[in-house]
Amino acid sequence: MDHSNCFRFLLLLLISSSLIFFSATASIVSSDASDNDLLIRQVVSDHDDLTLNAEHHFTSFVKKFGKKYADQDEHAFRFSVFKSNLRRAKRHQTLDPSAVHGVTQFSDLTPTEFRKTVLGLRPLKFPSDAHKAPILPTNDLPADFDWRDHGAVTAVKNQGSCGSCWSFSTTGALEGANFLATGKLVSLSEQQLVDCDHECDPAEAGACDSGCNGGLMNSAFEYTLKAGGLQREEDYPYTGTDRGPCKFDKSKIAASLANFSVVSLDEDQIAANLVKNGPLAVGINAVFMQTYVGGVSCPYICSKRLDHGVLLVGYGSGAYSPIRLKEKPFWIIKNSWGPSWGENGYYKICRGRDICGVDSMVSTVAAVHVNH
Ligand SMILES: *[C@@H]1O[C@H](CO)[C@@H](O)[C@H](O)[C@H]1NC(C)=O
Repeated sequence: MDHSNCFRFLLLLLISSSLIFFSATASIVSSDASDNDLLIRQVVSDHDDLTLNAEHHFTSFVKKFGKKYADQDEHAFRFSVFKSNLRRAKRHQTLDPSAVHGVTQFSDLTPTEFRKTVLGLRPLKFPSDAHKAPILPTNDLPADFDWRDHGAVTAVKNQGSCGSCWSFSTTGALEGANFLATGKLVSLSEQQLVDCDHECDPAEAGACDSGCNGGLMNSAFEYTLKAGGLQREEDYPYTGTDRGPCKFDKSKIAASLANFSVVSLDEDQIAANLVKNGPLAVGINAVFMQTYVGGVSCPYICSKRLDHGVLLVGYGSGAYSPIRLKEKPFWIIKNSWGPSWGENGYYKICRGRDICGVDSMVSTVAAVHVNH
């Protein structure tokens, strides 16, 4: 799949300028005379106030992310949003010092636009306990674990300007379970879910999976059980819109679900299910993700209102992390905003306090053991 087709704003982050802004350390400034260094010197000379240099940063942002605005009014409006996001990034940095916050590909979106266009988890209450995962032993869990090291995770994908996060979380979980059942890693189709899955949450009237307008992973698992499975990504490629008809071809099913269950809020149970069953579909509050550039996100305050669906692929004890991470144990989260966002498309969030609700909606799946 060509990610750049899904999201035209996909380009490199302004990591260097953000890093320098927030650390404001003169020693990082290199003497190379590239464009970036000019930018860095200007920022540093302003003594850590990115907002003073907003116009310059906006120009770089527009260039780096290939942003195109319809007219002068739109340009002016986006600049004002950008400035307010610089202030927000600064607030996030204060609230979340173990991560780096700054300019991202979403810096010209208002919080409402961000929620509407790049998230897509239907607002929900605590999941119904219809299928509860059995309690697993937790005494022999490894200190660090990452399914990427075991070949169970496909490349980072990009949902584009479509609230279809739930479909990526769903395919990610089934891709992992299918790998465990068959030994083969097959990238699965989000578009099938976006086009064909209209499953409704039995616990809440009117809460149905609806393409770019959001959905729920558990409903999508229910659909996948009923449909018989998901096609390959390459046979049913992602378009980033939900205006097309359902083109599901049952004869091309590449992976089938055996069952899915909800994991309890207990972090050891989450880790045990992850290690035993493969990557887990999780809900999260994404407010800090709009400005996230890297590091372990561990905000002092974060809403537990879940608005984004992602994939939990591993965890770290933090013991071998750079000193500035202060050995914070963290979860490793695969996101669906392309490889240029965050840490090569991934997010690290600290473990231990149900930060941003990351422990509160966790699903584990098993795949049918057949070789399609
Ligand atoms: C789910 O399916 C797998 C594979 O068929 C099976 O081993 C496991 O016991 C099932 N889990 C639950 C909770 O039903």
